[in-house]
Amino acid sequence: MLAKINSLGFEGIEGYHVVVEVNIANGIPAFDVVGLPGATIKESRERVKAAIMNSKQFFPIKRITANLAPADRKKEGAVYDLPIALGVLCAGGTIQADLSESCFIGELSLDGSVRGVVGAIAMLVEAVRQGFKRIYIPSENKNEVSCVAGIEIVPVDNLVQIIGILNGQINAVPMETVEYKKLIEKSESNIDFCHIKGQFLAKRAMEIAAAGGHNVLMIGPPGSGKTMMATALAGIMPPMSFDEALEVTKIHSIAGVLDKEQGLILKRPFRSPHHTSSSIALTGGGSKVRPGEISLAHNGVLFLDEFPEFQRPVLEALRQPLEDGVITVSRASGTAVFPSNIMLVASMNPCPCGHFGSSTGQCTCNKSQIARYLGRISGPLLDRLDIHVEVDAVPFMQLSSSDMEETSAEILKRVEKAREIQRERYKGEGIFCNSQLGPEQKNKYCKIDDEGMEILKQYFKKLSMSARTYDRIIKIARTIADLEGAESIAQQHLLEALQYRTLDRKYWING
Ligand SMILES: Nc1ncnc2c1ncn2[C@@H]1O[C@H](COP(=O)(O)OP(=O)(O)OP(=O)(O)O)[C@@H](O)[C@H]1O
Ligand SMILES: [Mg+2]
Ligand SMILES: [Zn+2]
Repeated sequence: MLAKINSLGFEGIEGYHVVVEVNIANGIPAFDVVGLPGATIKESRERVKAAIMNSKQFFPIKRITANLAPADRKKEGAVYDLPIALGVLCAGGTIQADLSESCFIGELSLDGSVRGVVGAIAMLVEAVRQGFKRIYIPSENKNEVSCVAGIEIVPVDNLVQIIGILNGQINAVPMETVEYKKLIEKSESNIDFCHIKGQFLAKRAMEIAAAGGHNVLMIGPPGSGKTMMATALAGIMPPMSFDEALEVTKIHSIAGVLDKEQGLILKRPFRSPHHTSSSIALTGGGSKVRPGEISLAHNGVLFLDEFPEFQRPVLEALRQPLEDGVITVSRASGTAVFPSNIMLVASMNPCPCGHFGSSTGQCTCNKSQIARYLGRISGPLLDRLDIHVEVDAVPFMQLSSSDMEETSAEILKRVEKAREIQRERYKGEGIFCNSQLGPEQKNKYCKIDDEGMEILKQYFKKLSMSARTYDRIIKIARTIADLEGAESIAQQHLLEALQYRTLDRKYWING
């Protein structure tokens, strides 16, 4: 007897269709699984056999062969426990049903209970795309997929239950799906911008960064509020669209860091890995090729506090994904491409003692110490940080003032408006915000008036700008114009954008 069971796998963050074929023939009793990598085969076989027997179901003492197709794709074993077991039960006659329009994912415990899997949402989205009518998933993965429409989702707890459902003895109860619009949450942070005194320029830089998705570097002495500012940034990030939320949830699901209770991830990610993090932790990899911090921060913020303290190779590894928005991870166990469209927010002191260039403290470092410290950030990396902003110590008068500062909610309103303008403008372009503009799109959407062009020309020489810096200034100016609701980029937008690119000269060149 031959049985075919539909299942799914994933590569990177995309799911794909897998067919589990189980054949039972006469001959010397055996149980072979082909199409899975080494150790996984053995484990899966043991779990399937024990689960069937412990569920008091018939396990044929015959020659059983299970084949997972396509054979050329790397598959992780645990997801296929349930489909393999169902294949054995179908081929052995225990289950009699037409399963051609259904698919199944789930790991089995030895006692026959169905356990959650990683990557459920990626596989589910693919099941919808493939046109399946129904998918059976582990109950544990229920919350994660609650927003996916277009397919009947049946959560199951154990083998006995699913056999009952398939044989028509138990009624299947498909899940109610939730509409995304009803779930959208405002982003939040435990620090509100109204609690940060002064720092008008830095706050404005944060607003521009959030509005256009630009990278930011903050430089300033200890205790000036850099970490505070970055933390507050999470509170002015616009809510995610459904597609963005889906991407983020897929990545977190595949990384195995999704909370069981967690449904779709609704808040933009804000990741702040410690400066001792390894390259693999940041960029991804490991024995099973998992996404790293840069992908976990996809569509959100990656905050690298104490930027120069990160190891040089770790920082350099950020260059390619920052430019491309995707990262290719190659390991012995395979290659995967993960999205890494992030807003990088970095903070640093200008020198080892922290007071170089500050208006309050006195710097005690010598020139070579400063040069060595700043040298940890390479030119190409610095170039990729769109906005550079100085965060100097706040004068006593401002710090002690009881004046009410603007709240995060007020800033968020402007950010959302600017994002809405961008979403409308880039409809059909496959991008959401100004930082993602490609060269061609930049020419099309960043019209600069004559006065503005004149300014750019002057500064291009004065700052001996690289082509990349030039590009970034225009994109930042685009965002500043959007915050104002202006159609084309004017002189004042460019002048403001230019001031966020002059700090590298103060520290890196003249220092
Ligand atoms: N502008 C400000 N308004 C109100 N409080 C501030 C401000 N700046 C700093 N503080 C206070 O100082 C503390 C330290 O700030 P923060 O940790 O952000 O400094 P930092 O710039 O990150 O310093 P370091 O370089 O040492 O990391 C904050 O927790 C806050 O209490
Ligand atoms: Mg800090
Ligand atoms: Zn110093």
